[in-house]
Amino acid sequence: MVLIKTKKEIPSSEITPEAVYLSRRKFIGQSSAVVAAGALAHSSLALPDSWIEDHGYEPGEEIGEDITPEKHATSFNNFFEFGTRKEDPAAHAHQMTVEPWSIEIKGRVEKPGKLSLEDVLKDIDLEERIYRLRCVEAWSMVIPWIGFPVKRVLDKYKPLSDAKYVKFTTLLRKDEMPGTKNLLSSIEYPYVEGLRLAEAHHPLAIFAIGMYGKVLPNQNGAPFRLVVPWKYGFKSIKSIVKIELTKRQPRTTWNRSAPHEYGFYANVNPEVDHPRWSQANERRLPERLFAPKRIKTKMFNGYDEVASLYEGMDLKKKF
Ligand code: MTE
Repeated sequence: MVLIKTKKEIPSSEITPEAVYLSRRKFIGQSSAVVAAGALAHSSLALPDSWIEDHGYEPGEEIGEDITPEKHATSFNNFFEFGTRKEDPAAHAHQMTVEPWSIEIKGRVEKPGKLSLEDVLKDIDLEERIYRLRCVEAWSMVIPWIGFPVKRVLDKYKPLSDAKYVKFTTLLRKDEMPGTKNLLSSIEYPYVEGLRLAEAHHPLAIFAIGMYGKVLPNQNGAPFRLVVPWKYGFKSIKSIVKIELTKRQPRTTWNRSAPHEYGFYANVNPEVDHPRWSQANERRLPERLFAPKRIKTKMFNGYDEVASLYEGMDLKKKF
């Protein structure tokens, strides 16, 4: 079952895949939002919280699974650019300048260009999506994101017919990102991720600009990140500055660093273990000291509606 927050509670029995895309809360009046963002340009955030609040955000009802408390989702993070310990991003990511923010769209598109975040968001309605986030390290959370389908952005710049993949790149600014100066780092920077275009076009794949009703904190990938809920968390690349449409499969950060451990596809799959640990179960965070919450991992993290993207593929080989 997909978790989507709506104004009225919908019995889970009535949540069909179609409802997943259609029963969404929309935030309207986008054009004035852009004005508001401009008026608050002195803020250190690319988008101020009021940008979201002004557009009708109200916490909705929880459906089915408990949402992870915000303090855990914003203090237990993976963002290697700020260090490898879970507490490092919350401690150091405030050093990252996110205002102003621009995103370069290039490669196999009709309309390439470098755009301000406000321009990228123009005419795009926001939605709240409550998704499970399953990390390859076998822990998971449930996070209420605010964002919109990736396809809405890609369509604006018109992918050419030979575009087959989308490559995403994170900001690299060494003087603001202490983790990138670590000479022993297991990964290379900038952080790069990629999807097949058909995956990026799936309605469940979103760009997020907020969570818990507010703009994204820096440690969670402000001001603009990817969220692909049926894949391991490392695909959900943070603080994106470049989107490139390509003909060939891009080389991605974790896949380059350890190809036998981290596949390009990285679909959540309880039947394909990581070489060093099982993927059959996960720890749902936060755990209480003597009460670990171990739950069974579901294929595609429970988002079965994506299965048709992989029809006829051997997912043990294309892991
Ligand atoms: N993006 C960048 N640029 N750098 C990272 O280290 N870590 C990934 C992903 N995106 C990472 C990243 C991993 S491993 C996970 S599990 C998620 O971000 C964690 O997202 P969260 O901290 O918002 O929960």
